[in-house]
Order: sequence, then C-alpha cells, then structure tokens
Amino acid sequence: MGLRDEAPAQAHQCASGHRVMLGDGASVDELAVELSVAPVALELLLDHLATVGIVERTATGYRTTEFGTNLCAGADNGLIDLLHLNTAGGRAELAFVELAHSITTGRAAYSRRYGQDFWADLAEYPHLRASFDRQMTYRFREQIPRIVAGFDWSRFSTLVDVGGGRGGVLAAILTAHPRMHGHLVDLAPTADAARRTFRAHAVDERARVTAGSFFDPLPPGAEAYLLSDILHDWDDEQADRILRRCVEAAQPAGRVLVIEPVGGMHAASAFNLAMLVMYGGRERRIDEFRALAAPHGLTLDTVTDLTDQRCLLEFRLADR
Ligand SMILES: C[S@@+](CC[C@H](N)C(=O)[O-])C[C@H]1O[C@@H](n2cnc3c(N)ncnc32)[C@H](O)[C@@H]1O
Repeated sequence: MGLRDEAPAQAHQCASGHRVMLGDGASVDELAVELSVAPVALELLLDHLATVGIVERTATGYRTTEFGTNLCAGADNGLIDLLHLNTAGGRAELAFVELAHSITTGRAAYSRRYGQDFWADLAEYPHLRASFDRQMTYRFREQIPRIVAGFDWSRFSTLVDVGGGRGGVLAAILTAHPRMHGHLVDLAPTADAARRTFRAHAVDERARVTAGSFFDPLPPGAEAYLLSDILHDWDDEQADRILRRCVEAAQPAGRVLVIEPVGGMHAASAFNLAMLVMYGGRERRIDEFRALAAPHGLTLDTVTDLTDQRCLLEFRLADR
C-alpha cells in the first residue's frame, strides 16, 4: 500500500514503492491520482485498512498509523522482503493457493503456480534473487553470533560452506577463528556477493569462493562441509544428491555439519509447511536425517542446540 507524501520530512518509502504520509492526511482523490487507481475502490480499501489499524482517518483524508509504518521499507524489520509481491518471499507466499496440490502430491506448490521451481525463478529474475539473498541475510543477523559461539568450530582447519549464501555465517566463523580457512560454494550472483562480504570482514585471504552448483563436485579435501538451511529446501532425492557431493569431497575422517530447524524440536509448523509449498522440502526429524545420511556412510554423532530455532547435527564419515 502507499499514501502520498505531504510531509516530506516524515515520508517513508512504502512496500509498494510509493511514499507514505505521516502528516495531516491525504484525500482519497489525491491518492488515487498518485497511485493511478480507481478512487471509489481505493476508499473501500482505505476504510478497511483503517479498520485493521494500518491507516487512520484525519480531517483531510487518511494517513499511515505508527503500526502501519511497519510495512514501510525504512522500517528495517525485514517485512518488505517477505510481503511485497515483487520479492521472492511475497511471490512464494502466493503459492499457498496451490496448497492442495502440495498436500495431494507431496510436491512444491510453487512450481505448479509459476511453471518452474523457486530456484529457476531466482535465476531468471535478478530482482527476486536479490530480495531472497537480502531476506536470508536479515533472518540470520541475530542468530549468527549464537551459531559461532554455540559450536566448537576450532576443531576444523578447513570448512566448506555449501550453499553458503552471501557468506555471513562463514565470515563470522573465520573472524572468530583466525587460523581457519573457508571455501563457500553458491550460485553465481550470490557467490559474487559472498566475495564482497569476505572483503568487508577482512577474511578474504582465508575465504575462497566458487560460483557453482552443489549438485556438481564440491571443493575436495576439507575437514568439514557445512549445510546451513540447505537440506530442508529439497525433497529426499535431491537432498540425497547434495549429501553425496559432500561425502565424495570430504577427507576420509571428514564431517558433515547440518544446521536446520529440526522437525519435532525447533521447527515451527508454519515454516515446515512453507518448505513443502515453496520447495517440496520439509523440516526433517532426527530419525529422517539419520535415514538420509546412513546410505552415505554418515553416522550422527551429536545434536547441538544452537539457537531457539536451529540445531547443528554433526555427522561423521565411517572409515573409508
Ligand atoms: C536458504 S539459503 C541458505 C543460505 C546460507 N547457507 C545461510 O544459511 O544463510 C539456500 C542457499 O542455497 C543456494 N542454492 C540453491 N541452489 C543451489 C545450487 N544448486 N548450488 C549451490 N547453491 C544453491 C541459494 O542460492 C541460497 O544461497
């Protein structure tokens, strides 16, 4: 939504890209011109937004309430990348209208609605990719310190972050452990962003980046391979392929570290359903992780509570 600005000093950019007004209030007619919408329909909408507290009526029209400013870009609460229909999050939310398809088939509703899967959409539309990467960075900004402090990363001298996104997690681990070397793999535009993150954290001399797919061979010979919020994005067949790549690449005594909300422990039911609708994935339970890992000779060693939302599962490779 958006309301026209009549008080420039107090204007905020709204999720729709329009400016919102915190001044005296703009009339429906003025707003309709700015937004190129039908005035009568707009008034119906504003009336309802007033009912739910997003705008309020004033002597001169409508203005955004304090609560309503939460929907503005400047609110710095991550909502814009979750709700705006032109972002990856907002677009994915609409796939819920195909929920019945997911429940019937066990497959992603997203592909049914948009004709290709979520990742293909991100590859085709750079603005969706950018919004997704922003959303991923935002979601972890309070979790990263706990991820770094909650596990003994110093046991490893080399760590590959598989699907490591913009590199926030790996940069923080490397910063905390100056003798450690890292290698991040992600798809091209995101890998470029990771290079910038490593430079910004001054760990770029210890952090390599490969732009590529985790369905292809991974950088070999590391002591540990990290999958942070990766496996839940995929069905069992694809999750199996990703694990196989980690095991192929790892040292004989290597470890595979999985950070995820675990089903039955931390996973919120709404989020679990979202994994199904968006990707055909899910938040697996411990026994499901064990079953997925066992054919690769991976044994679950430890489960560490990292945050209130995520566990770290450490898998060890059987002697090869
Ligand atoms: C949910 S995000 C997690 C990012 C990061 N690990 C984190 O926890 O912040 C999933 C990541 O997987 C990456 N990804 C998806 N498909 C991939 C592929 N085929 N190869 C490499 N990375 C991929 C995405 O680009 C994205 O960065």
